[in-house]
Amino acid sequence: MVFFVNWEAFLAPYVQVVEELKVKLKGMRAQFEYESRHSPIELVTGRVKPVPSILEKAHRKEIPMDSLEEEVQDIAGVRVVCQFVDDIHSIIEMLHNRNDFFIVEEKDYISEKKDSGYRSYHIIIKYPVETIHGEKQVTAEIQIRTMAMNFWATNEHSLNYKYEGQIPTKVKSRLKRAAEAAFKLDEEMSKIKDEVQEAQRLFYKNKNKH
Ligand code: GTP
Ligand code: MG
Repeated sequence: MVFFVNWEAFLAPYVQVVEELKVKLKGMRAQFEYESRHSPIELVTGRVKPVPSILEKAHRKEIPMDSLEEEVQDIAGVRVVCQFVDDIHSIIEMLHNRNDFFIVEEKDYISEKKDSGYRSYHIIIKYPVETIHGEKQVTAEIQIRTMAMNFWATNEHSLNYKYEGQIPTKVKSRLKRAAEAAFKLDEEMSKIKDEVQEAQRLFYKNKNKH
């Protein structure tokens, strides 16, 4: 069956969602700065999945063209990158407490990393967008990860692209080792974070004595 998709019209609500979520998440980052508090959000990025990637995923997962909205959950994607693993949990909690969208699903690839070595926390949401035809619930994916996890995923993604998903075994095992190293880096940084917070507590305690 030939199915015609007006991509510009189809993707417009997704463009809207990505822009709105970026504004909101960057706004949270700014609020932490105003209050001179450590921001659990280091960086926010977002993108609308390019049409060839949507088609590739639909083909790979045998998703019919008229089910893209329901079945492809990452057409709208935003990414929150943080410094420390603890920050991820702070962000998750803040997102749970919001009422401007519904959480549909959560995928914790941090407690349980993927076979590739991929680590990240994903929250799938339904986000209401106002259109000229009324409200539309648009599915979006929020990925939350540390800078180390992001560094790894970005490089692995490039290699997947280069090898068209068939990364040679030797490179794959190197990637797994790199994933372990990134995990260690996160662990070491977490330990330093505790030290920094303890130092700050001591500083405030002494200051309040006088
Ligand atoms: P696809 O992996 O795109 O087929 O999505 P899915 O519906 O199977 O969901 P999943 O949670 O596996 O992946 C969603 C998104 O997470 C992907 O689009 C990627 O951005 C990211 N992701 C998942 N697995 C990996 C991985 O092994 N490496 C990298 N670099 N990114 C991954
Ligand atoms: Mg997948």
